[in-house]
Amino acid sequence: MIEIKNLRKGFNGEAVLKGIDAKFEQGKTNMIIGASGSGKSVFLKNMLGLFEPDKGEIIYSGESLLDMDIDRKSDLRKEMGMLFQHSALFDSMTVEENIMFPLRMFSRMKLAERRERANEILERVNLVNLNKKMPSEISGGQQKRVA
Ligand SMILES: Nc1ncnc2c1ncn2[C@@H]1O[C@H](COP(=O)(O)OP(=O)(O)O)[C@@H](O)[C@H]1O
Ligand SMILES: [Mg+2]
Repeated sequence: MIEIKNLRKGFNGEAVLKGIDAKFEQGKTNMIIGASGSGKSVFLKNMLGLFEPDKGEIIYSGESLLDMDIDRKSDLRKEMGMLFQHSALFDSMTVEENIMFPLRMFSRMKLAERRERANEILERVNLVNLNKKMPSEISGGQQKRVA
């Protein structure tokens, strides 16, 4: 479970998150809805540890995010997926290279292993045979699945 307690975050003296409490339980799907500019992205960035809260707590299975060291945070982030509105793929890299990129950064896998893993993933999202395509050559929906 992820617990958020009294989360506050603002910028330049302007409060955006004004004491958010929330619980995200395992196996449940949650939606965060709100007007444009109301703070949804700021909230998620705090949960990911990309922003530091001004106040409050973010607790992953009983462990406070703010108390984690960089290695622990890095382990936690490996279990997080984040999908950007515009997919955020590298347009100079093929589909396969895009998927292999984080493996190069965050694992010790060898090239052949990374390629094998990328293709395993492509199979899972029903995109076999697109591995050598550039992002601009595939559809928006396909780009989302690559992302
Ligand atoms: N890095 C930042 N620096 C200053 N203000 C920011 C920053 N990020 C977001 N904001 C402000 O926080 C508010 C909420 O933004 P955001 O969370 O992106 O809204 P949304 O709900 O549309 O995702 C906006 O007023 C935005 O200008
Ligand atoms: Mg947003």
